[in-house]
Amino acid sequence: MASDARLAVYPGSFDPLTNGHVDIILRGAQLFDRIVVAVLKNAGKEPPLFTVDERVAMIRDVLVDQKNVEVDTFDGLLVDYVRRKKGHAIVRGLRAVSDFEYEMQMALMNRHLTPGVETVFMMPSEQYTYVSSRLVKEVAALGGSVKGLVPPIVAEQLTGKRTASTRRRA
Ligand code: PNS
Repeated sequence: MASDARLAVYPGSFDPLTNGHVDIILRGAQLFDRIVVAVLKNAGKEPPLFTVDERVAMIRDVLVDQKNVEVDTFDGLLVDYVRRKKGHAIVRGLRAVSDFEYEMQMALMNRHLTPGVETVFMMPSEQYTYVSSRLVKEVAALGGSVKGLVPPIVAEQLTGKRTASTRRRA
C-alpha cells in the first residue's frame, strides 16, 4: 500500500458488533484506502458480554470479504494507537442528537491530545438509528429477536450466551 494511503481507525467496544457498526464500516471503507476496526481491550465499568477475542472473531467473520478492512485491538489512549498505526482519521458513527455531546467531547479531547488526527462522523442508514449494542444485548438476554439488528453470526452467539446463562441458573 502506498505510503500516502489514507488510513482511518474506527474504534469502539463492539460488545457486540451491530448492523449499525457494519454500515459505518462499509461507508468508511469507501471513503478511506484502509479502515482499521479497533476493539478496545480495557474493560469499562460494566463487564462485557463477549471477550475481546470473541468480538474480534465475530467482526473478522462478518467483514471477511472487505479487503481494505482490518480488525485489531487496542488499549490505552486511542490517539496513541492511531499515531502508531499512522492513521489520518478517527471514524465515529452519529445516530442521533443524543450521541452528539459525548462524541463532540471525545473528538475535541482527541484533537487536543493529537492535533493532526481528525475525527470524521458518519451517519448510519436511518434503519439503524435506534440500534445500540446495549439494547441488542438486553433484548437478546430477555429472549427477544435481534434479527436484522445484528449480523446472523452475532445473533447466533447472543443466543449461545443466553442458553449458557439459562443453564447456569438452572
Ligand atoms: O463506541 P464506544 O464503545 O463508546 O467506544 C468508546 C471508545 C473506545 C472510542 C473510547 O472509550 C476510547 O477511545 N477509549 C480509549 C481511551 C481514550 O483514548 N480515552 C480518551 C478519549 S476522549
